[in-house]
Amino acid sequence: MHPKSLVSINDFTKEEYLKILDMAEEFERQPTQKILDGFVVATLFFEPSTRTRLSFESAVSRLGGKVIGFTDAASSSTQKGETLKDTILTVSNYCDLIVMRHPIEGAARFASEVASVPIINAGDGANQHPTQCLLDLYSIRKTQGRLENLDIAFVGDLKYGRTVHSNVIALTHFNCRYHLVSPEELKLPSAVKRYIKENNLTYYQYTDLCDVIPLADIIYMTRIQRERFSDPIEYEKVKNSYILSAEMLGKAKANARVLHPLPRVNEITEDVDSMPQAYYFEQALNGVYVRQALLAYLLGLKQ
Ligand code: CP
Repeated sequence: MHPKSLVSINDFTKEEYLKILDMAEEFERQPTQKILDGFVVATLFFEPSTRTRLSFESAVSRLGGKVIGFTDAASSSTQKGETLKDTILTVSNYCDLIVMRHPIEGAARFASEVASVPIINAGDGANQHPTQCLLDLYSIRKTQGRLENLDIAFVGDLKYGRTVHSNVIALTHFNCRYHLVSPEELKLPSAVKRYIKENNLTYYQYTDLCDVIPLADIIYMTRIQRERFSDPIEYEKVKNSYILSAEMLGKAKANARVLHPLPRVNEITEDVDSMPQAYYFEQALNGVYVRQALLAYLLGLKQ
């Protein structure tokens, strides 16, 4: 296993989160720095993506590196029956770092155990999405001026939402209060709640989104993910559980910001986009700076 991979948000310490956020601020001030000249980054996406893949590719390009990879397992030799292990062993020979998204939980950990180059987990099933988490922390700090002592509402699919899982774990370092809004069927898993309890932090559970709007500093909306349900009837029951509108935000705090990892389906109406609380497209832009910082850090180009 390569010593510098990012598979789970637990792989980094609080000091490392803050180091990445500080480095990302530098990249935001000066996004074009040719520190990856001569480096090749592979993006292996076994699941669809717009933001994660393209922001990584943008980050590599702005740093002067080259990108290879595939956007669909069907266009790779996986289609012919090649194992993930053989794919990773092969691609490790062609690049300096691999960014991988895979539908199976644990696939990124497995890849990191066989690769000779760093692996960045760009999402593994319903498990974790640590790079999204870091850009979310960046967005929270940028909009609130701090990460500590905030009221954070997570809304929607808390069961399968990998961004929520990573964020809940990371925020245990910052003494936040958690407001968990979901249908009964999509509550935050006990294994993730355990992190909150072990850190003696407080969480509250709700089924009504309106209950948290007046008290939240961050309203983190998520999509109910059709692709994670084994039974389409179960998806149909919960798919429209939460729809945030501009009118509902009338009761929000002045400093409140709405985040969403995106893509959205219908959980934020378009009239929210012009509200001062809307921050999800800026959040996606922050992904470029944070991913530049991660690449520089994991490749040992900045400490
Ligand atoms: N936030 C996120 O992971 O978006 P994509 O699925 O478009 O990469």
